Formats: sequence, structure tokens, C-alpha cells
Amino acid sequence: MSSRVFASLLLLSPLLFSDKNPPVQPIPFSHKTHVAIPLKCGDCHAAPDPGEVMTIPSAAKCMACHRTIKADSPAIRELTAYAEQKRSIPWVRVAEIPSWVFFSHKTHLDSGAKCEACHGPVAERDRLAQEVDLSMRGCMDCHRAHKATVDCAACHELKN
Ligand code: HEC
Ligand code: HEC
Ligand code: HEC
Ligand code: HEC
Ligand code: HEC
Repeated sequence: MSSRVFASLLLLSPLLFSDKNPPVQPIPFSHKTHVAIPLKCGDCHAAPDPGEVMTIPSAAKCMACHRTIKADSPAIRELTAYAEQKRSIPWVRVAEIPSWVFFSHKTHLDSGAKCEACHGPVAERDRLAQEVDLSMRGCMDCHRAHKATVDCAACHELKN
């Protein structure tokens, strides 16, 4: 490898290894294809009471369509196997924060926030990556912009 090629690879590496690089998923599911059907986010992502956590649909739900649609494609055969064996699909999570941080979808959706504000243009993506900063800094920037709380205790349990 020439040193120039090597140097440009080094320059690219922060991009290649950032969170914006979509992980390889066990089944090549595309949001773009499915939102265009059209399906709404809420058709697949329910937030059961108290609405803090979203859910990802089980393979059985996908089979409502895929028992017939593309039933012979390799990807759908794999999906069918998960459904028949009642195994959950080991999706690689892209939006995840540590469990010790308080976060509620309901609070944010009730205040008018759209999915895209935190998850980016999901409807345009074949493969998801976490494109919006959901680190503490990302939370704080939006809270400041909306005059929401930046109290440590709002997001963290304080030990005394
Ligand atoms: C409302 C019906 C519907 C539901 C529900 C649905 N799909 Fe699909 N899916 C489609 C349609 C339509 C296509 C596009 C088929 C085509 O390209 O002809 C598709 C395409 C796909 C493909 C690409 C298949 C290929 O080989 O080209 C995959 C993989 C897939 N879906 C996975 C899923 C998964 C996983 C779920 C559940 C989370 C799901 N689908 C739920 C209708 C649905
Ligand atoms: C047909 C069902 C379906 C629809 C409709 C759908 N999703 Fe998904 N969603 C999935 C599946 C399956 C996964 C897991 C695979 C993946 O990450 O691509 C997922 C993953 C996600 C994730 C990543 C969660 C994580 O932590 O890994 C986000 C965020 C998301 N969806 C948001 C949306 C939004 C916003 C919409 C509407 C624009 C939407 N989804 C519409 C099925 C769906
Ligand atoms: C204010 C920011 C924000 C908004 C708005 C938002 N999300 Fe999320 N979402 C997050 C965060 C943060 C996580 C990670 C939560 C965790 O790991 O506990 C997440 C996780 C998810 C997950 C993975 C399951 C879970 O709850 O951990 C899905 C699916 C998802 N979001 C879908 C959606 C959809 C669909 C919408 C719109 C209806 C939406 N989100 C709106 C910030 C947001
Ligand atoms: C899109 C802008 C936005 C982002 C990004 C965002 N928030 Fe918020 N958050 C808000 C707004 C606005 C409120 C106030 C809602 C209300 O009071 O009705 C809020 C309220 C909260 C509350 C409730 C505070 C209380 O006690 O009333 C918590 C906890 C919280 N956010 C945590 C987080 C965390 C953790 C993240 C990052 C993973 C985050 N938020 C990212 C806009 C955002
Ligand atoms: C709006 C929500 C929010 C508020 C307010 C908030 N944090 Fe955080 N904090 C987070 C999130 C999300 C993480 C985990 C993601 C990360 O590491 O950036 C985190 C992580 C941390 C960590 C661990 C850092 C690490 O690298 O492991 C510390 C320490 C911390 N916060 C302290 C504070 C203190 C002190 C305050 C008050 C000045 C505060 N936080 C206010 C959301 C918040």
C-alpha cells in the first residue's frame, strides 16, 4: 500500500468507525421500503404504558405480510425460521443509552418532539445508524434550546 493511500485511510478512519456507520443486522430490514408501503412508525413501534420504552416488533408480526410477500427470498426464509422457532431476532441496537440514565419517550413525544429529532431521517434509510448525538451533550443542547431542565437529578439518580 502506498503511503499516500495509507494516509488517506487514516484520515477517513474516524468517519468509518463512527456511530454513523450502520451495523450489519441479522436480517437486512429496510425502513425506507417499509415506511413507503406506507406504514407508520407506530404500526411497528408501540410504546406500552407507561410509554418510556419503545418496542421492536417480533418476527411473528412481520409474518402477517411475509407469509406471502417475498416468501421465497433468502432473507424472508431466515425471518420465517425466527418466527417458527419463536426466537427473537438479535437486532443490533443503534439508539441506546446507559440504563442508569432516566429517559422517557412519552415525556418527549407529549412535548411535541418528533422521532426524527432524535433518530434522524429514518424513513429515508435502508440501514439505520445513530445519526443524532444522544450523548449527554446531545441531550443538554436540546434541553437548553427548549428551556427544558439541565438539572443533574432530572437524568441521574443522585447518591447522598
Ligand atoms: C404491511 C406489510 C409488511 C410488514 C408488516 C413487513 N413487511 Fe417486510 N416487506 C414488505 C414489502 C411490500 C416488501 C417489499 C417487497 C418487494 O420488494 O417486492 C418488504 C420487504 C422486506 C424485506 C426484503 C426482502 C427481499 O429479499 O427483498 C425484508 C428483509 C423484510 N421486508 C423484512 C421485514 C421484517 C423484519 C418485518 C417485521 C419487523 C417486516 N418486513 C414487516 C411488507 C411488509
Ligand atoms: C415494518 C416495521 C417497522 C416500521 C414501519 C418502522 N420500524 Fe423502526 N425498526 C423496525 C425494526 C425491525 C427495527 C430493528 C432493525 C433496525 O434497526 O433496522 C427497527 C429499529 C428502529 C430504531 C433503532 C432502535 C435501536 O435502538 O436500535 C429506531 C430509532 C426506529 N426503528 C425508528 C423508527 C421510526 C422513526 C419509524 C417511522 C419513520 C420506524 N422506525 C418505522 C421496524 C419498523
Ligand atoms: C427526545 C429524543 C427521542 C425522541 C423524540 C424519540 N426517541 Fe426513540 N430513543 C431515544 C433514546 C435516548 C433511546 C434509547 C433509550 C434507552 O436506551 O433506554 C431511544 C430508543 C428507541 C428505540 C429502541 C427501543 C427503546 O425504547 O430503547 C426505538 C424503537 C425508538 N427509540 C423509536 C422511536 C420512535 C418510533 C419515535 C417517534 C414516535 C422516537 N423513538 C422518538 C430518543 C428519542
Ligand atoms: C429534541 C430535543 C430533546 C432531546 C434531544 C432530548 N430532550 Fe429531554 N426533554 C426535552 C423537552 C422539551 C423536555 C421537557 C418536556 C416537558 O416538560 O413537557 C424534556 C424533558 C426531559 C426529562 C424530564 C425532565 C423532568 O423531570 O421533567 C428527562 C428526564 C429528559 N428529558 C431526558 C433526556 C435525555 C436523557 C436525553 C438524551 C438521551 C434527552 N432528554 C434528549 C427535549 C429533548
Ligand atoms: C438531559 C439529561 C442529562 C442531564 C440533565 C445530565 N446528564 Fe449526565 N448523562 C446523560 C447521558 C445520556 C449520559 C450517558 C451518555 C454519555 O456518556 O454521554 C450521561 C453521563 C454522565 C456521566 C458519566 C460520564 C461517562 O463518561 O461515563 C456523568 C459523570 C454525568 N452524566 C454527570 C452529570 C452531571 C454532574 C450533571 C449535572 C451538571 C448531568 N450529568 C446532567 C444525560 C444527562
